[in-house]
Amino acid sequence: MRMRKKSNLEPRLENCKGVIAVCKSTSIYRKPESERYEIVDLQNLFENDNPVYLEIGCGKGRFIIENAIKNPQFNYIGVEIISNVLISAAEEVKRLNLKNVRFFNMGAELLQYTLPKNSIAGLYLNFSCPYPKKQYENHRLTYKYFLEIYKHILVSDALITLKTDNDGFFDYSLNSLRENGFEILEYTRDLYKNLPSDNIQTEYEQKFVLENKNINRLKAKIKGE
Ligand SMILES: C[S@@+](CC[C@H](N)C(=O)[O-])C[C@H]1O[C@@H](n2cnc3c(N)ncnc32)[C@H](O)[C@@H]1O
Repeated sequence: MRMRKKSNLEPRLENCKGVIAVCKSTSIYRKPESERYEIVDLQNLFENDNPVYLEIGCGKGRFIIENAIKNPQFNYIGVEIISNVLISAAEEVKRLNLKNVRFFNMGAELLQYTLPKNSIAGLYLNFSCPYPKKQYENHRLTYKYFLEIYKHILVSDALITLKTDNDGFFDYSLNSLRENGFEILEYTRDLYKNLPSDNIQTEYEQKFVLENKNINRLKAKIKGE
């Protein structure tokens, strides 16, 4: 279902400029590769050198905002391609005056041109679009192309935590991670059977739990030498 464009979207985005730190479109691919790099200085962005965690496809920001409130000693970046969705997250961060959350309004495929190498302490992939058709495999956020980007931006012992209601996407992600240089540290196909007390629900998770859908979760890290 298509989402109706929010009213006054452009001025509202403009009003959240400090919170939405980066806005990039795929027109960047018209430039030669060497000219695509505009690497963000994270210490400058957050005005401290606390560890930075990333959520790709943060939607309306429920998960990242709750994390940031609970963990002021960490910084958080939410990446979201659809500005119509991201505006809700950005306005909430602005309203709460949270200094440890910033957003990048762009596709995850541009992260390699945006984040410093080995700069991210952990990555969250929450209810990523599963793209079940084989022809769209390369859009899945655990496709090998994305995993190479994660290897570039993550610190060596960073955890990837992935949650999804989609069993097919979960199986695909387990295989893709294993085949492309990651180690699966733990996984469950029914997170709510033994729900960890520190679990933070996302918007989609709230909805799926109400529908009694099983929630899959895995934790992975880059395979050591
Ligand atoms: C199914 S929603 C889940 C939202 C949120 N994580 C949650 O659990 O409630 C997936 C989100 O990922 C975003 N998304 C999909 N592909 C993306 C990409 N390549 N880069 C950034 N965001 C992406 C979509 O726009 C959408 O908002």
